[in-house]
Amino acid sequence: MKVIMLGAPGAGKGTQAKKIASKYQIPHISTGDIFRANIKEGTELGKKAKEYMDQGLLVPDELVVDLVVDRVKQDDCKNGYVLDGFPRTIPQAEALDKALAALGEKMDYAINVDVPDENIVKRMGGRRACVGCGATYHIAYAAPKQEDICDVCGKELILRDDDKPETVQKRLDVYHEQTQPLIDYYHHAGILREVDGTVDIDDVFASIIKILGE
Ligand code: AP5
Ligand code: ZN
Repeated sequence: MKVIMLGAPGAGKGTQAKKIASKYQIPHISTGDIFRANIKEGTELGKKAKEYMDQGLLVPDELVVDLVVDRVKQDDCKNGYVLDGFPRTIPQAEALDKALAALGEKMDYAINVDVPDENIVKRMGGRRACVGCGATYHIAYAAPKQEDICDVCGKELILRDDDKPETVQKRLDVYHEQTQPLIDYYHHAGILREVDGTVDIDDVFASIIKILGE
């Protein structure tokens, strides 16, 4: 099963993608996580990506497309995968379709997690990410057992650099301009499915299971 998660920054794509990956035993491929890991390791890719990410802008398509196309060709992707944060522009979606077509494959579902902008701004300020394993929490909606400590690995939880209010607004603007057109793109491809992302995390996941099957 090959799934794309669509949705605004903070809509809950990552939260749901992790649950999908665990239930259906397929890899979770998050371009945001890949960039953050590269930033942490100080790689050339990380240095380039950080310049854009800190401003709330998208990293240029040419730095993203090959990365994902190479990743989905790996062995552990044979039974499918869930893409989180990619594609994010029409050229990225077209490049993905083209690469899959060359392999005789195609995406099965594009799930749009729908959350209005007002809710997003509230959510982002409460998000905390683990510096160790990348697990995400929310101080109100998905709190760790111990304040600012990761349940999974015990490391510190921090506010992401791009979750500051001014950057969140920029990311939303960029989303509406460059990423929202993908909703139409996948609607036309016949694989778009919509879920209400404003309800509890487990209720969002229940709607996703209805789409993907038990
Ligand atoms: P990326 O990491 O992909 O960020 P994003 O799309 O902005 O998405 P987020 O990770 O912020 O949010 P999410 O939807 O995953 O929400 P989450 O589950 O964490 O990308 C970061 C940057 O990298 C981009 O700005 C860009 O610069 C670059 N980049 C990445 N991919 C790229 C690409 N393909 N092309 C170009 N550039 C790229 O949830 C948010 C919070 O809400 C959490 O605290 C969570 O616990 C909480 N929450 C989740 N669901 C619920 C719920 N139902 N109710 C209450 N709280 C909830
Ligand atoms: Zn952790």
